[in-house]
Amino acid sequence: MFKNKNFNYAVFGNPVNHSKSPKIHSLFSQQTGISHIYTSVNVPLDNFNSILCNFFKKDGYGANITAPFKQEAYYFCDKLTKRATIAKSVNTFKKIDNQYILGDNTDGVGLLSDLTRLNFIKKKCSILIIGAGGAVRGVLFPLLSFGCSIFILNRTLLNSKKLVTQFQKYGDINIFDENSLKIKYFDLIINATSKFSEEKEDFVPLSFISSKTCFYDMNYQIDNRVFIDWCLKIKANFFSNGIGMLVFQAAYSFFLWHNVLPKTDYIIDILKK
Ligand SMILES: NC(=O)c1ccc[n+]([C@@H]2O[C@H](COP(=O)([O-])OP(=O)(O)OC[C@H]3O[C@@H](n4cnc5c(N)ncnc54)[C@H](OP(=O)(O)O)[C@@H]3O)[C@@H](O)[C@H]2O)c1
Repeated sequence: MFKNKNFNYAVFGNPVNHSKSPKIHSLFSQQTGISHIYTSVNVPLDNFNSILCNFFKKDGYGANITAPFKQEAYYFCDKLTKRATIAKSVNTFKKIDNQYILGDNTDGVGLLSDLTRLNFIKKKCSILIIGAGGAVRGVLFPLLSFGCSIFILNRTLLNSKKLVTQFQKYGDINIFDENSLKIKYFDLIINATSKFSEEKEDFVPLSFISSKTCFYDMNYQIDNRVFIDWCLKIKANFFSNGIGMLVFQAAYSFFLWHNVLPKTDYIIDILKK
């Protein structure tokens, strides 16, 4: 096993204690023979900058950033990849030349890789995204670049309007308006909302769903199954939770740090169990 001596990696978030990232990175490490120490750090909500500064001053080399810090992470970086610049949201840091922090966003490529693996996405397909938070910001550019038409449905209309304004120069993106929509049904419906405390009647009017519609829930936690339970209730034929996206986004972070892209399929199977 190659040793990256004294180089540390960690996921930072709040809460972070149930994060699956340390397990995923340990499996990548075993698979590739690249050893790296990867831990999880719970960050007090008002202390992101100082904790990250300390981490990189000591022996920190790479980090993953999870909710609710992805936008703060964007402002922390010295340099950004193109996809992080466009998303204005960062989920991966890498220390370069021992002095700069590069910020990347691997959520979009992670989602696109999993949708491709599942055969849930085709060029020019129509996608309804429910939610307009940080995760959506990270995935819009890759999905629009793939040629999809995107419709946003969100609890707070103002947040969806902001996203549409920010991303309309990259492709076909609109607010979901059931009265003026011209398409018959969506090819793919993605849930990108965080936890619902209550049962939801219908996430989307059933008239926009066909037997071929695919459903993807970015959530993967066992205590957050409201969308998947709804998919079962409406007898959806094709649906998945977001565990594959989680593994792929981790794989692309690993690639940024080590220039090696780990295999993901068997790791997705392990985590699904
Ligand atoms: N699988 C993966 O790799 C992966 C990666 C990233 C994120 N995720 C998951 O994706 C989810 C969203 O993450 P995020 O970072 O985008 O979170 P976020 O920035 O906090 O955004 C939350 C979104 O959920 C909506 N929402 C929250 N509570 C709601 C409710 N009770 N009813 C209706 N809408 C509600 C919010 O609407 P408003 O605008 O109205 O507040 C907002 O659109 C999280 O559960 C996260 O775990 C998974």
